[in-house]
Amino acid sequence: MKIKILCVVGTRPEAIKMAPVILALKKEKFAIVRVLATAQHREILDQALNIFGIKIDIDLNAMSKNQSLASLTSKLLLEIDKVMMNEKPNVILVQGDTTTVMTAALSGFYHRIPVGHIEAGLRTYDLSNPFPEEANRIIVSKLAKWHFAPTVSSKNNLLSEKIEETNIFVTGNTVIDSLFFVSNRNNSVNLNKGKKKILVTAHRRENFGEPFLNICKAIRYLADKNLDIEFIYPVHPNPNVYEIAKIELGNHPRITLIAPLDYPEFVAAMMNSYIILTDSGGVQEEAPALGKPVLVMRYETERPEAIKSGAVRLVGPNYENIIREVQRLIDDPLAYRDMAKGTSPYGDGRAASRIVEILRADLVIKQGVPSK
Ligand code: UD1
Ligand code: UDP
Repeated sequence: MKIKILCVVGTRPEAIKMAPVILALKKEKFAIVRVLATAQHREILDQALNIFGIKIDIDLNAMSKNQSLASLTSKLLLEIDKVMMNEKPNVILVQGDTTTVMTAALSGFYHRIPVGHIEAGLRTYDLSNPFPEEANRIIVSKLAKWHFAPTVSSKNNLLSEKIEETNIFVTGNTVIDSLFFVSNRNNSVNLNKGKKKILVTAHRRENFGEPFLNICKAIRYLADKNLDIEFIYPVHPNPNVYEIAKIELGNHPRITLIAPLDYPEFVAAMMNSYIILTDSGGVQEEAPALGKPVLVMRYETERPEAIKSGAVRLVGPNYENIIREVQRLIDDPLAYRDMAKGTSPYGDGRAASRIVEILRADLVIKQGVPSK
């Protein structure tokens, strides 16, 4: 008997982090792999899947411009429900904490189909930061059968919530598998040589409005003051982000606003950068593996490991903090060296194969079906 596994992806980071699992499962005789794209994101989801050569089997094409959480959630619940009835998968895999992940896990629960949650157990214990992702994670943890925790501390979060220890597996984060996949390629990004680069990304809902304005004003101030520094900012397609970024940061000789980069190009941009300023989750995991200091423009993080290792600092979406900490890293080589330690607390590049082995052990070996 073959096991039909529905791998669900909705946004750019889910595609990047689910890709190694999809590719590893596709090599297995025990698995029939089906890729469901809710397409909560469109261009940047396709951009990420293409890099890994992954084709979508079922496409809900759900994105609408400036979608609300309620409209997206209700649309996805109804649409994923139809997919469950048509596809009848044996297993559903989700990755992360987006609306796609929460609705797919809930749909799996309604259909009594077991759900595997990749990147389980991340917590800030503050429902407003990140919003709404902290709630999504908690909901998925209540519903999932397999909890693939990236680190011991994420496992401990799940244990403290009374999740059965036998259902939690520390695998590392699949993002490091993806990082290795692309950083072994010959990537190039068309950046001016010479000036030190500060790479910027920002997109979080809780930073929309005043916090995002503070971020932009701090970047502009730093660019005005430091003639030997250049900011490179691939702008997220969310209109709450790019419309403001264009107004606040456009037309500055040392700030380059560009469209989202292909994953290999973005990795090359990280490697070429001096500092990374971000509110992204994935970038907090990747940059320490590349030895790049990261200043996180959030007040909380569910990724405490790289804070402990010294590679990441929280600066909040706070004008004064951003200016002070960036300037310190520019002016103080010792402070810079301390942060650029290059430890990777999030994995060794073999998370996907561990996840496949856990599924094989549970679904194939325990059921007595020959696996290869
Ligand atoms: C979503 C996730 C967030 C994740 C982020 C990764 C939720 C609630 N949020 O946030 O956890 O960190 O993705 O980037 O699930 N858009 C485009 N083209 C695209 C993608 C987005 O135009 O390819 C625009 C659309 O106007 C869309 C808007 O961005 O309505 C917001 O997309 P949405 O998925 O709702 O939220 P994100 O802020 O991207
Ligand atoms: N990324 C990318 N191109 C870009 C910006 C980011 O490929 O122009 C990658 C980045 O390396 C990371 C992921 O997208 O793997 C992070 O996505 P995002 O910040 O949108 O979401 P989050 O990680 O915050 O959920």
